[in-house]
Amino acid sequence: MALERTLSIIKPDATKRNLTGKINAVFEDAGLRIVAQKRIQLSEKQAGAFYAVHKERPFYGSLVASMIAEPVVVQVLQAENAVAKHREVMGATNPSDAAEGTVRKLFAESIEANSVHGSDSLENAKNEIAFFFAETEILP
Ligand code: CMP
Repeated sequence: MALERTLSIIKPDATKRNLTGKINAVFEDAGLRIVAQKRIQLSEKQAGAFYAVHKERPFYGSLVASMIAEPVVVQVLQAENAVAKHREVMGATNPSDAAEGTVRKLFAESIEANSVHGSDSLENAKNEIAFFFAETEILP
């Protein structure tokens, strides 16, 4: 196993309900270390670019709108095997399929308002981290 970094976003449905600390407690308890963090308001252009891979999907417009409705917390998590560990702790995209104890089972409202985003591969993690953070902002 290698020390990895992954991008985590606490989404508007969660920041709105004051769940940032509770969600990060789940991550930290799982051994994920928060090595960079900021609360930001995404623009429509930024959210659209971040989710460009889903541009042709029917939910794209609604997803972008949901991501700009409230501030988000973007953060870099570091751990051995961080990409897979983070995805495991987040749970399935659809909260009705998520395992007990996962962030989405505990907190998500729907498949779209699913409280958190996490990179799905190490390669995407590198690109998604660079989308939001300069290397100098990441403090292991
Ligand atoms: P995320 O892990 O951020 O990656 C893409 C997002 O699109 C996903 O979480 C959900 O918020 C959203 N999403 C995925 N599938 C659907 C769907 N079928 N309907 C609505 N939103 C979806």
